[in-house]
Amino acid sequence: MFESVEPAPPDPIFGLNEAFKEDPNPVKVNLTAGIYLDEEGRTPVFAAVKTAERRILEEESTKSYLGIPGSTDYVTQVQRLALGRDHPALAEARVTGAHTPGGTGALRVAGDFIRSIHPDATVWLTNPTWVNHGPIFLAAGLEVRSFPYFDRDKHVLSYEEMLTALTEISAGDVVVLQGCCHNPSGTDPSTEQWREIGELLANRGALPLLDTAYQGFGDSVEEDAQGQRILSEIVPEILICNSFSKNFGLYNERVGALILVTTSSSAAQAALSHLKRCIRANYSNPPAHGSKIVTTVLEDEALRQSWSEELGRMRHRIRAAREQFVEALDERGVHLAPGGNTFITRQRGMFSFSGLSVDQVLELKEKHSVYIVASGRISIAGMTPGNIDRVCDAIAALG
Ligand code: LMR
Repeated sequence: MFESVEPAPPDPIFGLNEAFKEDPNPVKVNLTAGIYLDEEGRTPVFAAVKTAERRILEEESTKSYLGIPGSTDYVTQVQRLALGRDHPALAEARVTGAHTPGGTGALRVAGDFIRSIHPDATVWLTNPTWVNHGPIFLAAGLEVRSFPYFDRDKHVLSYEEMLTALTEISAGDVVVLQGCCHNPSGTDPSTEQWREIGELLANRGALPLLDTAYQGFGDSVEEDAQGQRILSEIVPEILICNSFSKNFGLYNERVGALILVTTSSSAAQAALSHLKRCIRANYSNPPAHGSKIVTTVLEDEALRQSWSEELGRMRHRIRAAREQFVEALDERGVHLAPGGNTFITRQRGMFSFSGLSVDQVLELKEKHSVYIVASGRISIAGMTPGNIDRVCDAIAALG
């Protein structure tokens, strides 16, 4: 059976990571996946996470299964983080959810859930979006289309075009947005724009799905939740997919959550029953360790404070790296956009959508062993004092 199978193409992000590992060039640079590096080029374990893990190791008394939707304490903490403690939907028990293996797991469960209750829904993705969004919803058997989001020439939101496109969608369709630090564009709607988008989606009867993988990398944990909190006040039903890979540094623990805001507690219970069926047929129930870490940190005032401060330091380091990147490009007389390079400092989160073309990206890899994603997305979170000059020299040398 396998003799006649043609090899599948590599993953557009992790495939490059594999190629990077095999590259023998001693001064190669990897700016592909969104992975935070400190100034010394390490991806640290948060101090609060280490403390929580010691405590878990000490206190854990069983490795028995969690329930299908995972740990209830964990889901409660994530709901509060996503919506704010005082959100009326929480007080009214209209919120439900499940603890999932990573944000990707949350998105796939969301896809399976939508397909099981509303198989004709079209899933609308921003153009551009995270490269894995399309494959996830297609794999769930849903139709996928895209709408304008970002103007690649002007490096701003394609706001009017987005609104026009969203006016066309059908009731029951799903609109995938990102809670903050849009991947790959680094460009989010303003508070006023979130409000307007929410009103439009509510009028259309659309279901917003917020993918939130970078909460805390924009302005702060609280401020970065503004968009999804505004939407969840205006639109009656909303899905939020959370990931703690980046903001807790728990990349390989695979810890995320799917949160559903519904219109009543009975609707929440019914939704949960469908979520459970989707999960049971997929991975049965989630792994516990990552969720225990997140719960332990968020429930303990001192650990929570330490986590939030460390996350703040990461955010500041990435902002500083943006400024250094602009300075280093300017020094070399390189302009990535006609208006100069300052668009890089306006972008938020881990990435910069540089405007480099597919050919330029290939040249960076082939001639200089500088790895970025084909769309021109650069992981600024991976830029350090040790690699920034090499990256900028390589960009300056582009043909
Ligand atoms: C990224 O976009 O680089 C990250 O979200 C890693 C991934 O899973 O693709």
